[in-house]
Amino acid sequence: MARYRYPALPASEVTPKALFEARRRFLRRGVALGAAAAAPGLLWPQGASAWQEALKSELDGELPTRRMAGGEALTDYEDVTTYNNFYELGTRKSDPEVFAHKLVTDPWSLTIEGEVEKPGTLALEDVLSREALEERIYRLRCVEAWSMVIPWIGFPLRDLLQRHDPTSRAKYVLFESILDPDNLRGQRRSILDWPYREALRMDEAMHPLTLLAVGMYGEMMPNQNGAPIRLVVPWKYGFKSIKSVVRIALTEERPTPSWVAQNPEEYGFYANVNPEVDHPRWSQARERRIGERGYRETLMFNGYGDEVAELYAGMDLNRHY
Ligand code: MTE
Repeated sequence: MARYRYPALPASEVTPKALFEARRRFLRRGVALGAAAAAPGLLWPQGASAWQEALKSELDGELPTRRMAGGEALTDYEDVTTYNNFYELGTRKSDPEVFAHKLVTDPWSLTIEGEVEKPGTLALEDVLSREALEERIYRLRCVEAWSMVIPWIGFPLRDLLQRHDPTSRAKYVLFESILDPDNLRGQRRSILDWPYREALRMDEAMHPLTLLAVGMYGEMMPNQNGAPIRLVVPWKYGFKSIKSVVRIALTEERPTPSWVAQNPEEYGFYANVNPEVDHPRWSQARERRIGERGYRETLMFNGYGDEVAELYAGMDLNRHY
């Protein structure tokens, strides 16, 4: 098995002062939580909930760093938190930040069920145990029609799934987001068949680069980016990286993700980044890196081919898009 390149961040790069100040302004303006005493590089709301305290206690002190291949520049924190897709909060790219405060993240639990020997519903603070956060910092490119380089804080999904003993019949992993139409204005419209659903094949889910992220830029996850816990699958288009996850079910049959149910001609189950397979309405050959002028060539598997191409050996990726 190839050794995986976990991205790394020299501590000096993770939260430049300008970004940190932007975060402080963002917190004051956006969620009125006030910037309380902060763990190194982390901002915590006064009266933090149990899972925020659990995350803080796990992440106190120097965050470990990993060597980043390619050394790409981080996308500006302001761009990453003000240009979002989170249809539960609205369909404009600015809606998720504007309505971020409507996402209620405390208390939060995560249900793991289906083809597992040890099903259960865990309070999030019980998920954020030391071993789960063993691998913490990943700087990964994420791409939709635009791309960003984001220093996520998280851990491999497989660490959580292994704790629940998948059965031999577990062939897929279904993820579901929060359903809360009273607070989430987008869920009062039939934009999608709510809640937001995504799915991976079991070997994709167990891959070390498939993460559950609970923070970014050295801080806890902003609501508009999928607080308190979201999936990150860096070699797939952004819509696969489901936000604000409340349920994970291992299944024998292939689930139907939200966008595949909505428009199967345009959205495939795999959604691997592939510059040779165009979207029906636009070319995927180039991407705009947020914060940069012009376009850059899109890389197969978003540049993670060395790590993931073997998962799709022998598959026709024109058919299995
Ligand atoms: N997860 C949920 N629950 N709801 C959503 O609307 N949008 C998806 C994905 N995860 C979405 C979601 C899409 S289309 C994209 S491009 C990414 O989140 C965007 O993540 P970002 O806003 O943090 O860049």
